[in-house]
Amino acid sequence: MSDDTNDDKRFLFPDPDVALVPAPSRVSASLPGGGTGHVIDADTEIDAAEGTERVAQWLRATVGAATGFPLRPHRRNVNRVLLRIVPSLAGELGSPEAYRLCADGSLIAIDGASETGLFWGAQTFRQLLGPEAFRRAPVARRQQWEFPAVTIHDAPRFRWRGLLLDVARHFMPKEDVLRYLDLMAAHKLNVFHFHLTDDQGWRIEIKRYPKLTETASWRARSKFGHRASPRWEEKPHGGYYTQDDIREIVAYAAERHIAVVPEIDVPGHSQAAIAAYPELGNTDVIDTTALTVWDNWGISANVLAPTDTTLRFYEGVFEEVLELFPADAVQSSPFSSFVHVGGDECRKEQWTESVTAKTRIADLGLTDEDALQSWFIGHFDAWLSARGRRLIGWDEILEGGLAEGAAVSSWRGYGGGIAAARAGHDVVMCPEQYVYLDHRQAPGEDEPVPIGFVRTLEDVYRFEPVPDGLTEAEARQVLGTQANVWTEVLEDTARVDYQTFPRLAAFAEVAWSRLPAPAERDFAGFERRMAAHYGRLDALGVAYRPPAGPRPWQRRPGVLGRPLEGPPPNK
Ligand code: ACM
Repeated sequence: MSDDTNDDKRFLFPDPDVALVPAPSRVSASLPGGGTGHVIDADTEIDAAEGTERVAQWLRATVGAATGFPLRPHRRNVNRVLLRIVPSLAGELGSPEAYRLCADGSLIAIDGASETGLFWGAQTFRQLLGPEAFRRAPVARRQQWEFPAVTIHDAPRFRWRGLLLDVARHFMPKEDVLRYLDLMAAHKLNVFHFHLTDDQGWRIEIKRYPKLTETASWRARSKFGHRASPRWEEKPHGGYYTQDDIREIVAYAAERHIAVVPEIDVPGHSQAAIAAYPELGNTDVIDTTALTVWDNWGISANVLAPTDTTLRFYEGVFEEVLELFPADAVQSSPFSSFVHVGGDECRKEQWTESVTAKTRIADLGLTDEDALQSWFIGHFDAWLSARGRRLIGWDEILEGGLAEGAAVSSWRGYGGGIAAARAGHDVVMCPEQYVYLDHRQAPGEDEPVPIGFVRTLEDVYRFEPVPDGLTEAEARQVLGTQANVWTEVLEDTARVDYQTFPRLAAFAEVAWSRLPAPAERDFAGFERRMAAHYGRLDALGVAYRPPAGPRPWQRRPGVLGRPLEGPPPNK
């Protein structure tokens, strides 16, 4: 009974220690006895010091809309939210993304070590106002919104806190991508890995190669379920982002201090591109003019030919990509300069058969096809480096020798990341055993199109991005971590929401908060905070998986998945 009362109170007026997600480093009461630190109302003003105008604008657009209050620029009212940049906080809290939020009864001050830190502070501010602050218009005639008397010091554990969306297998409309950027910002995630090309679709307009969008951006039909499923969705599927769509996405992300890392996957996962431009394929092995954009899932054998034609073609693609994703898009982020070239799962059968590929191996004095792939990736590493950019690829790029400045997305477990870190390369840890959010999140028949291992909310919460056994210097090569959302069995945004949430909230806490070792993490405490956080997700319209299981319309009865049993192998 008394517990219920407490919970209700928390929900309306959340105890920040209980309800913030991700958890901040330090929270304390700023008034003896705690209680209300401040009241936001129609007279509340925003006192935006120099360099904070964009954050003030974001607050007006979000909290202003939710409350219906104008949040005017500060003139004379004592009731104000003060925004400042305080560079010394970076040293004090150990990160340029640090912030301090203090509500002590006379004002609410949010100080950021940088504009980025301030923006994360503004996210915390919105969370502290309660779930209604996440709506786009007021739902009650509230004259006042109470704000708790708290002081928060906070800074992220990792610099790279990423989310990959696979918009190639199933296209995600631009509006939904923008929404995902808002959802990332609400969870203090700061790198959007945009998987733009694959066997089943090419999603980015490249002006010099119009067939990439005319032909490669759609397929005639799609496999419904895992590739072993007998079912087909017998209708065309497709879509692409125009260059202006991309510019809008990059700018929208930048306003939210999110770097967008585009992925153009080479030399495997390229059947859609070959279907549009058959000369890119291994023409001495198969009739590439007969290829279509792939309508099934799996790893296509149709890979790029290791020819000068291919290299020149993709240099042309990357020239446009670099223009669309400028290195300084997010001023404070080093990650805007990264370009992902894939490099994963490149089947080598065609290269083994191809006289052209064999000749290339001989001419270059290479040992085998793995070394040929390494040469291919190395070419783009040098090409990108010469243009002031950084190459990142999946951990297969380690095979046959890692290109000099390359960074690695470690997906097949920790092993690739460990090897790369030991060799002095930067690493993003995203092992499929833990943070592939397309994998099912519960056992049971009701889970829609179940694939992979059972990875519960708790499993994600206990994921540790830095593996044991790295020295301190090696561990510093771990830039951070990323959750990956592959969409073979996620046919629309509601399915993406279901797989991504609530687990992305747990992932965000792993990426941001300084959690103890996995076994010591307070999952029960996290779940209590999630009670409030579900309210925020509801207000944001996120179709998450409810703790009790899928709603009827979230199920996909009879659609074949590929569940894997037991705990995932620890690689
Ligand atoms: C991957 O999952 N093939 C990176």
